[in-house]
Amino acid sequence: MPRDDVIVALDIGTTKICTVIAEVDQNRQINIVGVGTAPSAGMRKGVVVNIDEAAGAIQRSVKKCERLSGYTIESAYVGVTGSHISGMNRRGVVAVSPNAAEITPLDVERAREAARVQAIANDREIIHVLARGYTLDGQDGVRDPVGMAGRRLEAEMHIITGGTTSIHNLVRCVNRAGLEIDDLILQPLASSEAVLSAAEKDIGIALADIGGGTTDIAVFCDGGVTYTSALVVAGNHVTNDLSLGLRAPFSAAERIKIDYGSAMSSEVDPHETLEIQTYDQEEGELISRRLVAEIIESRIQEILSLIQSEIRRAGFDGHLPAGVVLVGGTAELRDIRHLGREVLGLPVRVGVPTGAIGLTDTIMRPAFATTIGLLQWAAYHTDGVHASVPAFGEWRGVSRLKGWFREFLT
Ligand SMILES: Nc1ncnc2c1ncn2[C@@H]1O[C@H](COP(=O)(O)OP(=O)(O)OP(=O)(O)O)[C@@H](O)[C@H]1O
Ligand SMILES: [Mg+2]
Repeated sequence: MPRDDVIVALDIGTTKICTVIAEVDQNRQINIVGVGTAPSAGMRKGVVVNIDEAAGAIQRSVKKCERLSGYTIESAYVGVTGSHISGMNRRGVVAVSPNAAEITPLDVERAREAARVQAIANDREIIHVLARGYTLDGQDGVRDPVGMAGRRLEAEMHIITGGTTSIHNLVRCVNRAGLEIDDLILQPLASSEAVLSAAEKDIGIALADIGGGTTDIAVFCDGGVTYTSALVVAGNHVTNDLSLGLRAPFSAAERIKIDYGSAMSSEVDPHETLEIQTYDQEEGELISRRLVAEIIESRIQEILSLIQSEIRRAGFDGHLPAGVVLVGGTAELRDIRHLGREVLGLPVRVGVPTGAIGLTDTIMRPAFATTIGLLQWAAYHTDGVHASVPAFGEWRGVSRLKGWFREFLT
């Protein structure tokens, strides 16, 4: 099988690291042939804080994946997130020669480049340059201008950049684990591939990936991404609150949260008790399940309010027809969807990844939306066996792909 038919996704989270390998056929069917998950290390709030520890954890997950699949993994599509990420909308304008019969792909690339250069800064790396739409001689809403007649072409782009230091450390740490990077992909964009439909992206929808260390947000409308951001409050804060409130170790609080937690305390029987190992007591102590839910609810409420502020900042106050899709491990919390509806006042659903076959048993869950999405992004947006990059999608080519190596590795 040619090398291009096999893709690897590497999701380096604050809580877990997951490597997945898949074979992709001519119809872009993704067949997962190996999965390796390992607890994360050396990561904080979505970024690498200890390269050796993080590289070790990556290796553990890669080795598991290799053992299961029989493949040797050399490179991977890697997700990136953290508060150093920023997204901006820029417009690139170019004049088209009056002698030209129609807009060519080169004209489109010039317009995109004109938008891209506006995002270049010393201490920042460009991660994605995504087309939102084009305006041709004043007529907006054009999705693919190639072949149309016109003199003045404007490209509306969403440009995502990251802090050079954070990106640099991520690249080094993946390299230290023995892998090359096929491409870096913003985590919520990857997640959105796995759980959002094209129709939802058309009418307006937000994705919130509530993980352990970060809550990543992406807002889509008219088929493209219009806003991206990352908050550094997520599931670990919920566990911390429980640990403090119940005077119990983090690990005990984490177990209680996952096994008995809920985002709606009013739905929990006030008389039900749970046993937990606290710092104070040798034996387990009885606590109220309602109290556990109250502690969780107040932090989740805060996270949802922050998501709401981001949606407002994106310019969609109270008007996002398809509402919000929650993914990430924290989206697996009982009743989070109901609290989400209450706080956001929008339709809310929990996103379960679809679109892959094979060894899917353990990973077709909200916590793995990014991992599955990375595979889908790779299968859809790369050259190789797949169809060429669609005009209304991301702009990137082989030269851009190699950029990560040129810059950091030579
Ligand atoms: N059933 C559950 N109920 C509540 N919380 C859960 C559940 N399952 C997992 N979590 C929480 O989800 C979080 C981990 O989510 P996820 O695996 O998406 O994070 P990550 O990708 O490692 O981190 P990040 O994306 O933030 O860097 C942890 O805080 C964990 O406690
Ligand atoms: Mg994650």
